[in-house]
Order: sequence, then structure tokens, then C-alpha cells
Amino acid sequence: MIQHDRSTVTLMEVAPRDGFQSIAEPLPTGDKIAAIQLLIDSGVKRMELGSFVSPKAIPQMGDMADIAAHFRGEDRCRMSVLIPNVKGAELALKAGYPDLVFVFSVSESHNRNNVRQSVDQSLGQLADVVAVAGPDAKLRVDLATSFDCPFEGTVPLDAVRRAFARALQIAPNAEFALCDTTGRADPLTVAARFCAVMADAPDVTKWAFHGHDTFGMGVANALYAHATGVDVIECAAAGLGGCPFAPGATGNTATEDLHFAFEQGGIATGIDRAKLLEAADAVAALPGGKVASHLRIVPRKRATTGEAVAQLA
Ligand code: COA
Ligand code: ZN
Repeated sequence: MIQHDRSTVTLMEVAPRDGFQSIAEPLPTGDKIAAIQLLIDSGVKRMELGSFVSPKAIPQMGDMADIAAHFRGEDRCRMSVLIPNVKGAELALKAGYPDLVFVFSVSESHNRNNVRQSVDQSLGQLADVVAVAGPDAKLRVDLATSFDCPFEGTVPLDAVRRAFARALQIAPNAEFALCDTTGRADPLTVAARFCAVMADAPDVTKWAFHGHDTFGMGVANALYAHATGVDVIECAAAGLGGCPFAPGATGNTATEDLHFAFEQGGIATGIDRAKLLEAADAVAALPGGKVASHLRIVPRKRATTGEAVAQLA
């Protein structure tokens, strides 16, 4: 039985990584910093600030060191950075970011497309990351394509369990995320897959769900993941995104839509909805981004108060 606090959820903001990287033309660093600042001001408790990846693979992350330097020491929000290999870990640690998110894909073809390595090679990199990270580092392992792969279709549950078991052996103290990279998962499958991997490793207590909203299931998927015992739900303000390595996928589920879904049901996020919507507006205003959000298009007062619509005119 998974023990977790049912009255809270951690919405982990990934617009600065998964969202920004969907915009091909590099954005001005100052604009990114301003949007990130608004997200922090809204009360976001965890964030993926960006990624230490090859700037040739993702030119948008070319200013990662500058953004990292700007927010180093920010203590209102726990900042993580995504890494695809040990070089990324070294750069992150040098920049003062010991909170690492290592990503590899369950499906071989997506892993090769995304990080140009076999799954075996990626797991070798994970072992190297554990070795360089040291005892004070925090490590998350993201299992991309845990439900569906843009190149192979539905990913078998057994493949997810095998990949998870291998990663767990290498990084037994990590937080683990099942990632719906393409946004094609459905709520019952999300719950079933988390139940399966949780049953495989009852000692693992830190779980996360990374979801996209391609098929409109993002909010429901997140609620089912949380009901299963997952405390960290990833999302992007304004629903910004569309993965360059997952053709056909749209952005992460909008943070503001998840805020509504959880808070209305009495599950606290620690985030101020009005300020979050301001931050989402700033994210949506970045040139070249594709956004998708329900709450942002609801009249603002209606989105932020419980008053009857007739009284808001
Ligand atoms: N950060 C910055 N630079 C890196 C790097 C990292 N983590 N890893 C490698 N590099 C640099 C190398 O130093 C090398 O630079 P050079 O050409 O100036 O010598 C160059 O990138 C190529 O290195 P190589 O090891 O041959 O990598 P590759 O070309 O096979 O690409 C990855 C592999 C993993 C580095 C690249 O595919 C990548 O960064 N992918 C990230 C994809 C991503 O972020 N996807 C979304 C997240 S799910
Ligand atoms: Zn994603």
C-alpha cells in the first residue's frame, strides 16, 4: 500500500524545459527569465528550469547556463534540470544544480531519436550520472514513452516494468516518473501502469507523472495518477509545447487546468490561481509557441472566483 498525503499535490512546472524547447527560434533570455519569475511568484513549488543538452540538438537551451546562474539560490521553488547523459550532469553540478532529471525512453526507437543512444547506452550513462552526482544530489529518472511511442505505437507494460527494474537497480534512491510523451495515454491505463510498477517496487516512495494533453486526457490522467499515489504531476503553464522528438504530440497539460481540477476537489497545490494565470499569459505571449488551456480562455473573474456567472457581468 502506497502511503501519501491525499490532501496535497505537487504541480511540477515544466514549461521552461518541455514548453520552451518546442519553440524552434531561440527566445530572448530575458523574456524566459521574466516568465519563469512570474511562475515562481505564483507559488510553484517545483520546476524543471531547463536542460543541459547539446545546443546542436536543442538550440533553445543554448542559454541554459545563463538562466541557471540567474536563478541559483532561489529558495522558494525546488529547481531541477533535465540531462540526457553524464556530460549534462557535470554541467548541471558545475552550475550549482544538484537536482537532476535523467531521461531515457522505454522504446528503443524513441531513445535513439531523442538522445542518439541505445537504451543500454543510456542506462550506462545513468550509472555514470549516479557516480558523479554524489550523496547530496537528488535524482529523478524519467521513463519516456511509458505508454506510447511515436515510432512503435503502444508500448507493452512488460517493457515498462523491465526498463523500470533496470533503472531502479542503478539508481535505487531516485524519484521515478512514467512519462506519457505523446499524450496518448488514458486514465485507466495510467492508473494500471502506476499500480504495476509500484507493486514491483514497494520501497520506492517518490513517483511522478509527466503528461501531455494531445488526446484531451491530460487532466483525467493526472487525477488518476494522483489517486494511485503519485504526488508529483508535471505540467506546463498555458499548455505550451509540442515535443520536437515526439511528432504529433501537443504540449503538457496546462498547469492552470490542473490547478482547477485539484483545488476544486480540496487538494492543495500551494499556488495562487490568479498569479498563475498571469504567468501563463506571459508564457503564452512568447513568440512562436503553441498553447492550449481551458482556464485561460474562461473570463478571468470566473476562473478565479466561485461566484455565479450572472454576478460577474
Ligand atoms: N550538454 C551540452 N553539450 C553536450 C552534452 C550535454 N549534455 N552532451 C554532449 N554535448 C556536446 C558534445 O560535447 C559535443 O560537442 P562538440 O560537437 O562541440 O564536440 C556534441 O554535443 C555532440 O556530442 P555527442 O556525445 O556526440 O552527442 P550526440 O551528437 O550523439 O547527441 C545528445 C547526444 C544526448 C547530447 C543529444 O542528442 C541531446 O542533447 N539530446 C537532447 C534531446 C532532448 O533534450 N530531448 C528532449 C528531452 S526528453
Ligand atoms: Zn514531455
